[in-house]
This record gives sequence, structure tokens and C-alpha cells, in this order.
Amino acid sequence: MANVIIVGTQWGDEGKGKVVDLYARHADVIARFQGGDNAGHTLVVEGEQSIFHLIPSGILHDGKICVLGNGMVINPAVLIREIDDLRKRDLFPPHTRLCISDKAHIIMPYHRGLDSAREGYTKGTKIGTTEKGIGPAYEDKVTRTGIRLCDLLNDEVFKEKLVRNVEEKNFLLTERYGAEPCDRQQIYDEYRGYADRLRDYATDTSLVIRRAIEQGNNILFEGAQGGHLDIDHGTYPFVTSSNTVAGSACCGTGLGPTEIDAVLGICKAYTTRVGGGPFMTELTDEIGDMIQQKGKEFGATTGRKRRCGWLDTVLVKQSVRLSGITGLIVTKLDILTGLDRVKICVGYSLNGETYTEHVPADITNFEQCRPIYEEMDGWTEEIGEARTIADLPSGARRYIERLEALTGVGVIAVSVGPGREETIVVDHPFV
Ligand code: GDP
Ligand code: IMO
Ligand code: MG
Repeated sequence: MANVIIVGTQWGDEGKGKVVDLYARHADVIARFQGGDNAGHTLVVEGEQSIFHLIPSGILHDGKICVLGNGMVINPAVLIREIDDLRKRDLFPPHTRLCISDKAHIIMPYHRGLDSAREGYTKGTKIGTTEKGIGPAYEDKVTRTGIRLCDLLNDEVFKEKLVRNVEEKNFLLTERYGAEPCDRQQIYDEYRGYADRLRDYATDTSLVIRRAIEQGNNILFEGAQGGHLDIDHGTYPFVTSSNTVAGSACCGTGLGPTEIDAVLGICKAYTTRVGGGPFMTELTDEIGDMIQQKGKEFGATTGRKRRCGWLDTVLVKQSVRLSGITGLIVTKLDILTGLDRVKICVGYSLNGETYTEHVPADITNFEQCRPIYEEMDGWTEEIGEARTIADLPSGARRYIERLEALTGVGVIAVSVGPGREETIVVDHPFV
């Protein structure tokens, strides 16, 4: 048995969904532990694409337990739509069980309203959030006014919490932001329906995971976002509102840290970012456009164009350290095919100082840094059919080897296309 965490090492969208689906065949439990429907995880199986925002990316395999952990913030409308859509497409396997932590927090319409109102407010920092209400929902969790799934399921508690919350949030929405207020009765009626739909899935998911461990099962923890969107360790304030590093899997599901066997970091062969914030290796030239178009770099949640740039190993190294990454998985290497020369950022310089292992905490310093690049020859051969490292052209092999040398971590798989089978597996966390 093994308990394995998968996290993004950059700013999200590294291809976590594809990799989780790939390994899920060997796992018994697949658990999300933080974030909400700001995530968009894409799977391509037998040519058919599925995008999951809340449901763990192991759902397409039969006989699994898919867990939405207590560390998540859940929009019930989105979750129910995802469940119904899977059933309609006949993709919800008959022996698969979905479990939702009764301690997970619920995203309410006023959370989305506040997220949008703040983003639209002209004064202050525009983060470029997904406007899914993620930040405001985590705010309520921390101020201890949030509505958890168990609260939604208890009519008396729900009513009382809703009254208090709507009163406060409507004040903020109307008086502070000049936005529309929420209608409490409408929310109540809508959310009563959600409670009925979700009741049967609600449980103490920490116990579900404990039982699985006792039975010697394999568990896969699916991170959302990426290391540099972490609320503590990311490029604050241009981050999400949860901890995205691997340690969060323990708090976000109710698992002791001694149970973790491996942490896998997903590293896109280049860097992308959606939303605002500094981006050291961003390319605003024709190479950036080529990567954006060939890589189909559009947000899976918001449809926004993703900003693209060279691989930044300072970011990856910091994630390796913060998440204790034991193996790297490189994705989208196929997108770099055809470039004469490729660049890897190995450090930042600022006023004579060099940063090679961490991103400066002060965002104004980070913005002023200049990237330090290594350049190497690229490769022209298409690599989508490669199934072993030896199948890769020498330029692509050198690129992988350089990443391993710079980060000090071995690459255990390379993804060369969006499909499940378009993968080179060097080492497997479960077998
Ligand atoms: P996630 O949020 O980390 O799960 O990543 P997204 O699903 O948001 O974005 C990754 C995108 O790249 C998806 O459209 C995937 O289908 C696609 N993808 C994943 N791996 C590869 C790969 O190796 N090559 C190509 N061309 N596409 C890939
Ligand atoms: P996956 O799991 C990429 C970004 C948003 C914004 C910032 C804050 O698919 O990798 P939020 O709505 O979370 O308050 O937005 O975080 N962001 C993501 N970027 N991939 C994601 O998820 C993201 N989830 C949030 O674009 O910059
Ligand atoms: Mg994504």
C-alpha cells in the first residue's frame, strides 16, 4: 500500500488531472483536499475530454472511493451538475462511491457576489480570481461564521447561520461595493434542494481514509492549483486562498503526516499563469504565442488565455522544498517540439543579488528581478508516440536531465500528449 500526494509545482494547470487519472487505476481512494471549483482538471480518455472542477479525477475508474475532503470549499450547484453530467454521459461507474466531508465549507451566492464585487472594484489590487467565491468562503471559515455541509444538512442551524450571514454580506455588497444584495429566502429554498441531493454523500471522510489505510489500500491525494498559488508560500497577494502545498493534504482530509509515502510534483515543461501577478519568464513574443496556441493554453474554468513563458526552475525548486517532492512528472513536453533553442530559468538577479532557490517574499522585489537563463538546443522530432525515455530525441532527453540536475529530483514520468496513454512511465508510485 502507499499514500501518494500529487501537487502542482508552478501556478496551476500543470496537468494534474491527467496524471491523477493515469495513476488512479492503481489507487483505491482518490481524495481532493483543498480549493473548490476554481480548479479545472482535464482528462482525455479514448479521445473523450472531461473537465472536473470538484469531483476527484479518479472518478472514471470503476470501484474507487472518491473523496471531497474537509479542506475544500464546495459549491453544491457545481457539484450536483458534475454528478448529473457524469451520469448522463454514463461515466459514473456503478461501483464507485463518492464521499463528501461533512466538515467541508459550502460556497454561498454571497461569496461569489463578494468575489466579483471586489474584482470589479476599481480601488485596490485586482487578483484576477476565478470569481467562484473561493476567497470569501475561506474567509468565513477562518472567521468561524462559515456554513459547513453538516450545517446545511441541519435545517435549524442552516436557517440561523443564513440569517446572520446574509445580513452581514448584504451590508458589504450594497454599502461597500454598490452591488446587488442577496435574497435570503431564495437562497434558503435553493440550498434546501442541494441538502436533499447531497445528504447521502456526507460523511466523516477522515474515517473513510483511515479504514482504507487499515485495509492496506492505495490512496491518491489530488492537489488543486499549484505551489506558487499557496496562501502562505505563493506570490502573495496573487494567490488562491488555500494552502496548496502537500502538507495541506493532511489537514484537508484528516490524515496524520506520518502516513504519507510519496509526494509527486507535476511540472509543465514551460510555465503558465492565469490571472494577475508577476511572472519572471513570461514571453510576450511569438514564442509565447506559439506555446499558448499549440498548448491550447486557455483556462479550463474561466476560458481566459493563460500567460505563457519558459520553464522557471526557481519555482520548481521552491515547490520541491515546500512539498517534500520525491518525484517529478513533466507534462506537455510535446509542445516545445520545433523550437531551435529552448531556455530554462535557473535564477533571478536583483541589484547584484542572485536568487536560485526561492522567490523573494516582497512582491515589489520579485517584480524587479531579472531572469537568468541557460540556453540549449531544442528538438524537431514529434514525440507524441514516445513511450520510453530512449524514444525521445537527444534534445528532449537533455532538457529532462537538466531539470533533474537543477532540482535534485528524478523525473518519474513524462507526458507527451493529453491522452491517458500518451505517457512515458519511468517509475510508478504504486507498483
Ligand atoms: P490541471 O489543472 O493541472 O489538471 O491542468 P489543466 O487540465 O487545467 O490543463 C492541462 C491541459 O493540458 C489540459 O487541457 C490537458 O488535457 C492538457 N495536457 C495534459 N498533459 C498534456 C501533454 O503532455 N501534452 C499536451 N499536448 N497536452 C496535455
Ligand atoms: P487548477 O487546479 C490556475 C488562480 C486564479 C487567480 C488566483 C486566485 O486547475 O490548477 P481564486 O479564484 O482561487 O481566488 O483565484 O488563482 N487560480 C488558478 N490558476 N489553475 C487553477 O487551478 C487555479 N485556481 C485558481 O486565476 O490568479
Ligand atoms: Mg486547471
